[in-house]
Amino acid sequence: MRRKVIAGNWKMNMTPSQAVKLVTELRPNVNNPDVDVVFCVPSIDIVPVVEAVKGSNIHIGAENVYYQEKGAFTGELSPEMLVDAGVSHVIIGHSERRMYFNESNTVLNLKMHKVLEHGIIPILCCGETLEQREKGITLDFIKEQIVEAYVGVTKEQVLHTIVAYEPIWAIGTGKVATTAQAQEVCGFIRTVFEELYDKETADQIRILYGGSVNASNAAELFAQPDIDGGLVGGASLKPDFADIVNYNK
Ligand code: G3P
Repeated sequence: MRRKVIAGNWKMNMTPSQAVKLVTELRPNVNNPDVDVVFCVPSIDIVPVVEAVKGSNIHIGAENVYYQEKGAFTGELSPEMLVDAGVSHVIIGHSERRMYFNESNTVLNLKMHKVLEHGIIPILCCGETLEQREKGITLDFIKEQIVEAYVGVTKEQVLHTIVAYEPIWAIGTGKVATTAQAQEVCGFIRTVFEELYDKETADQIRILYGGSVNASNAAELFAQPDIDGGLVGGASLKPDFADIVNYNK
């Protein structure tokens, strides 16, 4: 039985004081024993937010990381810095980073290895554009994203990773994929892991859906056989994110 993961991706929102206020408000309301709760927050919010959630079940994640250990990489954060600050998860390969910061599958593979080396759980995002969906190449494109991001990742390491399927056309648009569309791709991703590793691994890896998840569609999405939770953008910035975490209550 795979444990659900519900992660918020705050993107470039929330100043440190707003961040502390939000997590302090959410903290008592996100105690769902069936769910791992993660807030992926802007770098500048990490330290105060880690402090604010101490003693709770909330995990703090970063939204990005660099793949070098240390040195002359102005503006970047290393995995060691994240671990030392109390980070347990990191989003890699979000479509916004692929799109605006030219992150390629090759770079994501380097990040994947580096964060696994440091014991951080990568949340690897994949997802197609509307154009790719309309051309009927969604599954091929997603397979390529997964295969290239996981080059060299061992069977021992793979279950320390999480995948998030986020169709680009459903991000921030209010246009949620139908449960059938989301299930189809998440189920397909599982078969890719079966091909790359084996059935046991594929059955255990956690695959999330992201793209306009909210309190009214969460329960139906998370009830799909291959959807193990969500990566939530806009709806994670409000106290009613708790309703998504408590989707089964
Ligand atoms: O990573 C979360 C994401 O891109 C979805 O954003 O605002 O559509 O929930 P949103």
